[in-house]
Amino acid sequence: MALYAMGDLHLGFQAGKSMDMFGRVWKHHERKIKKYVTQMVKPEDTLVLTGDHSWGRKLPECQEDLAFIETLPGRKILLRGNHDMFWDAKKTQRLNGEFSGRLFFLQNNFAIYEDYALVGTKGFTFEGPFYLDRWGNLTGWDEKKEQQAHKLVRREMNRLRDSFEQAKAAGFLKFIMFLHYPPTNILEKTSPFTEIAEEYGAEAVVYSHCHGERRYGDSIRGTYHGVRYMLVSGDYLEFRPALVLP
Ligand SMILES: [Fe+2]
Ligand SMILES: [Fe+2]
Repeated sequence: MALYAMGDLHLGFQAGKSMDMFGRVWKHHERKIKKYVTQMVKPEDTLVLTGDHSWGRKLPECQEDLAFIETLPGRKILLRGNHDMFWDAKKTQRLNGEFSGRLFFLQNNFAIYEDYALVGTKGFTFEGPFYLDRWGNLTGWDEKKEQQAHKLVRREMNRLRDSFEQAKAAGFLKFIMFLHYPPTNILEKTSPFTEIAEEYGAEAVVYSHCHGERRYGDSIRGTYHGVRYMLVSGDYLEFRPALVLP
């Protein structure tokens, strides 16, 4: 049994949106997803998909993308990404009813993997605009947007704490924490998300959202304050799911 993760499949079977323009790695990326996930993930394994699943804006526009995810091997757990318009934050329970036994939607709840609780939420991080001088040094940022970001971070922190607390109340002591957004942005060394991971003793924080060479280093990768941070954006992994726990 193994726990895998990958994010940002950005499927567009129905929306008809191609990702080819974003570089070679995205060419026929859905074929790569199918090939590598099928090679690596066994039916008894768990695969957490960390958001940005579909370009469809409403659930009926995502049916083919979600059906594709269903055909992948293993138990599939989905996190909300910023592009997942089909997933209204208040309708997670309804989605879990509708896709019961096929897909699990992780938000304000938790999933179980052996003696671990899998907790998570979309998260949020301020992504600018940042202002640079002509040498590329950071000179400032949009402060109004940064203030708005604090509000979104607080809302996401409540959802995340809810997830942790439910798992704790159910007796879990070991946690793997999933986010769609990176836990910190380029201005931060720590954030409320890194602090909560340390507070609950999460063994790993798994996130995606960062696309392209220039963004892969935006947040923490590797071990920091005893927590393992993993970037699992599909393009970063070249669409080979990352092993979180053997
Ligand atoms: Fe994405
Ligand atoms: Fe994203």
